[in-house]
Amino acid sequence: MSQARIENLLAQMTLEEKAGQLNQEPNSIEVDRTLVRRGLVGSVICANSAYAGNDRQARVMASALNELQRVAVEETRLGIPLLLARDVIHGHRAVAPIPLGQAATWNPRLVEEVAATAASEARADGIHWAFTPMIDIARDPRWGRMAEGFGEDPYLASSLAAAAINGYQRAGLDDPKGIVACAKHYVGYGAAEGGRDYNSGEITPHTLENIFLPPFHAAVKAGVATIMAAFLDIDGEPVTGSRRLLKGILRERWGWDGVIICDWGAVAELVKHGVAENLKEAAAMALRAGIDIDMAGQAYRAYLPELVREGALPVSLVDEAVRRVLRLKDACGLFDQPYTDESLATADLPASHRTQVRDMAQQSAVLLKNNGVLPLAKARKNYAVVGPLADPAVKEVWFGTWTIDGLATDMVAFLDAFRQALPDSGVWHALLPDDAVGMVRMCDAVVAVIGESNGRSGEDNAVTDIGLPPGQLDLLRALKRARKPIVAVVAAGRALAVTEVCELADAVLLAFHGGLESGPALADLLVGDAAPSGRLPVSLPVCTGQVPIPYNHKRTGRPVPLRGSRYLDADDQPLFPFGFGLGYTEFRFSATTAEIQGGTVVVRATVDNVGNQDGVAVAQLYIRDEVSSQTRPVRELRGFERFPLPAGESRVVEFSRTPEDLGFRDRDGSLVVEPGEFTFWISPDAASGVGVKLRVD
Ligand code: GLC
Repeated sequence: MSQARIENLLAQMTLEEKAGQLNQEPNSIEVDRTLVRRGLVGSVICANSAYAGNDRQARVMASALNELQRVAVEETRLGIPLLLARDVIHGHRAVAPIPLGQAATWNPRLVEEVAATAASEARADGIHWAFTPMIDIARDPRWGRMAEGFGEDPYLASSLAAAAINGYQRAGLDDPKGIVACAKHYVGYGAAEGGRDYNSGEITPHTLENIFLPPFHAAVKAGVATIMAAFLDIDGEPVTGSRRLLKGILRERWGWDGVIICDWGAVAELVKHGVAENLKEAAAMALRAGIDIDMAGQAYRAYLPELVREGALPVSLVDEAVRRVLRLKDACGLFDQPYTDESLATADLPASHRTQVRDMAQQSAVLLKNNGVLPLAKARKNYAVVGPLADPAVKEVWFGTWTIDGLATDMVAFLDAFRQALPDSGVWHALLPDDAVGMVRMCDAVVAVIGESNGRSGEDNAVTDIGLPPGQLDLLRALKRARKPIVAVVAAGRALAVTEVCELADAVLLAFHGGLESGPALADLLVGDAAPSGRLPVSLPVCTGQVPIPYNHKRTGRPVPLRGSRYLDADDQPLFPFGFGLGYTEFRFSATTAEIQGGTVVVRATVDNVGNQDGVAVAQLYIRDEVSSQTRPVRELRGFERFPLPAGESRVVEFSRTPEDLGFRDRDGSLVVEPGEFTFWISPDAASGVGVKLRVD
């Protein structure tokens, strides 16, 4: 639709119809058709509760959504089609690992491909708009939504945000394989104090600019079509009502002109935040701040016409928002083809989709320890499989939080997959701890499948203890007394404290909830049909008391390990650092070299596979600005490369970076580039390697 047609349509709209376009109703199944017929609904979120992530929803069907669309297109005065949205967070029918697990792959290409698959599946079911990717930096694992983002580092999260957005949108928003992406939750949601969801976040301008904003800047540069505002208040303002953060940064600083939607009911929540007297005042505040669409709050529908009529709001503000919404619908091709071709939705899950998420599930697991017990021998052995998460009855736990359209009937439980992977060995399952201990004595080794339920991660699931759930360490201690090799597979929706697990087990595989193909992928890894290649996207604390302990912390005036900011009763380092992960071979990194070539810094190192197995390395480039006008972190990730490396072979890894690449953001967001001495590392994680110093002018 041309701009002229949009203007022409806008000119015909009543104030009520304009407010309707900015109103998003929940629950496609029961949405009030009367409201739709009156032109008071512009979009629908297909979710029947504000906690979609943790309660199963009715599946979406293109036929049902076409029926709803028909009401909007054929039974309203102007026939403006609806935008239909869904939380397609990590896959649709082919459920991928949770985004934290996707981050553990350090594989932007695969993240993009998996997003493209999710887009094609969801669009075929009639969904135009996916509320994903979530790109909140999370440094506090007590926060359940760490599961849903790409970890603690802005560079890794920015790379994966761009990849995911490209995957969702690259086919074209009007293509049956494309979908509208939504970068969320802008901004700083992961800083909720105490890890308590929805809590205030204390974020300094320096930290906002250098930690929390970069992934959203990357999303804007990647062309994300929509952004969702965060629930929380930072620096005295709820983001939903903050003109400084919304219009000031997204529109005026970055020049982005996409659609901004609030989170569920967040316009109405301005009253609860105590910054608006009532819903009417909240509606005015949110629109002025830059919120185009009011999700599930009914504030815009109820009050925008009245606010304009009484002169409290200029109609131009409403028109601006309506234009963006109409442009988005036009970009999705909805004015020309509002209905989904119902033949596109396949009853069966394509094998290629299943294979893709199985590959990702393999790559999302991080091997933390292995004293040689892995990979398990395939023949003439007896293995015990124990632990609460080995029970086939709870296989859906492995979908992870925010799984809405995955089908348990599509899943193969780990126990079944493990048996299939070991046709020439015995696999014995004991559900009860006392049976488990007895059985282990008769076996050659035991696989203990433990960790947290998906129901304990995700939204509104903050915990005070990131250790294992009750009883699991007791089980491991009892198994230890059987004096057989223990392989611990730890299911996680966040960084867990696995200190004692690592003391008790001979091998520890941290498995972020891996989605549909978790079972087969874990079996592949344990028997060596695939080698672990995941790397931590978050630091693993020794215990909850260490939180937060991000790798990119500041040096302070008394840096550890000297007498400095540390604890009396715990180490000053995490149990495992950001970027860490083992495989079934050994990589050796040479000393890093750095030189200036034609105005850029060229950093190199040689990686050798000195083991006897092929493997996948993830070389990470870190920098440190030795002297700067503002305090800089002890290390900052500024590049990474994941590559296969056959046994016995070497590869020179090289990164070229301009002085601008080494800069930081000032408190107003401007890039600061200062000459001086830097240290560079190319290393396997954030704590190892010998840095090399180089002056950069
Ligand atoms: C939820 C979440 C948000 C989600 C939205 C719609 O409360 O905060 O991530 O997209 O509401 O379900």
